[in-house]
Amino acid sequence: MSENKLQLDPQLKALSEATQAIASELSLEQVLFKIAQAARTLIGAKYAALGVHDGHGHLSRFITVGIDSKMHPQIGPLPTGLGLLGHFLHRGEALIVKDITKHPMAAGFPQHHPLMNSLLGVPIFSKGELIGALYLTDKQDESEFTELDQQLIEMLALHAAIAIENAHLYEKTQRLAILEERERFARDLHDGIIQSIYGVGLTLDNAKALLPAEAEAAREQIDISLKSLAAVINDLRNYIFDLRPQALKSKGLHARLEGLVKELKVNTLLPIQAQIDPDINSYVTDMQASHIFHIAHEALSNAARHARPKRIGVSLIRQDDVLTLQVEDDGTGFAPPETIAHGHHGLANMQKRASILNANLQIETAPNQGTHLTLTLTGISKRQETD
Ligand SMILES: Nc1ncnc2c1ncn2[C@@H]1O[C@H](COP(=O)(O)OP(=O)(O)OP(=O)(O)O)[C@@H](O)[C@H]1O
Ligand SMILES: [Mg+2]
Repeated sequence: MSENKLQLDPQLKALSEATQAIASELSLEQVLFKIAQAARTLIGAKYAALGVHDGHGHLSRFITVGIDSKMHPQIGPLPTGLGLLGHFLHRGEALIVKDITKHPMAAGFPQHHPLMNSLLGVPIFSKGELIGALYLTDKQDESEFTELDQQLIEMLALHAAIAIENAHLYEKTQRLAILEERERFARDLHDGIIQSIYGVGLTLDNAKALLPAEAEAAREQIDISLKSLAAVINDLRNYIFDLRPQALKSKGLHARLEGLVKELKVNTLLPIQAQIDPDINSYVTDMQASHIFHIAHEALSNAARHARPKRIGVSLIRQDDVLTLQVEDDGTGFAPPETIAHGHHGLANMQKRASILNANLQIETAPNQGTHLTLTLTGISKRQETD
């Protein structure tokens, strides 16, 4: 066995271990820390640091390993990228210095900073862009860092770049996921719970109109309102605990729409013609059912609240692989708003749901000509298990 091999093997092993540890980490802070730690053990340096570029020639983060945690606060603020570190950060070239204290670019150490002599600096590039650098100081047992040390750290820096990039991406997707969740909550609360409360409002309006002459009828309407409110509270509770109204889980789309129509008839005292395909449940997924239901709910609620119609019609039919939802009223109609006005989310939510469904949503309306909504979903097929 040659002497070279004996020397190289543990280092390659260390490099491979280091890259694995880095690759398995997703939090940026941990990734940076692990990279610095790996670099330090890889080539036997007393101290290691990882500086991340802020994109404007300064350091945005500076993670150190090897410095006593008690000593940290005494050293003061992290380096800002002046002096030797900064110089090197701008140039983006590796650097070996035997004694930092004697280097012409050195800005000097702050008080309480451990004294350091030998230095190896290696830039980290990601997609051709300088994103940071690894600094190793005080080579153990030797007076300065070698070319081999530099090569090993350069290899590590390649992995570090990927890991940092991944961690950045991961953080970004996490943020996006949270935003999407929030949007979904807002949509579900608006379309489900708020619309139901509006329905209760309509019933109470009816009750008020019946008073004082028809007190008994008014009492009935108030009773209905109380029941509806209890159902809303129940839905809300289910939503909070389980993020999905129970009714949608246990009942299929057909029963839910039938229930909605019944509720609306009671709330508005309007004739409502409904034609819901009784087999529809076997053709839609839970996700599709939920969006279709909410679109229907919003359209019906808009018709009842805004159109002052004499009648409302709703139909959900399937022919071959095409599913069509239609909601129409013979009321006032309206000029579709160009932009979403504050406090009016219904139409925008419908569009959003239609696009999630990959469906086509058309709203035909004109002043005093009523409103006719058509949602078309193609590529529907019978599902394996039916509920
Ligand atoms: N069927 C309809 N008949 C008459 N006007 C309608 C009808 N649907 C919608 N509109 C008009 O379009 C506006 C926007 O509707 P949208 O559903 O986006 O908001 P909203 O119903 O006012 O409030 P939200 O749905 O957020 O509770 C309504 O305020 C209403 O003026
Ligand atoms: Mg609305």
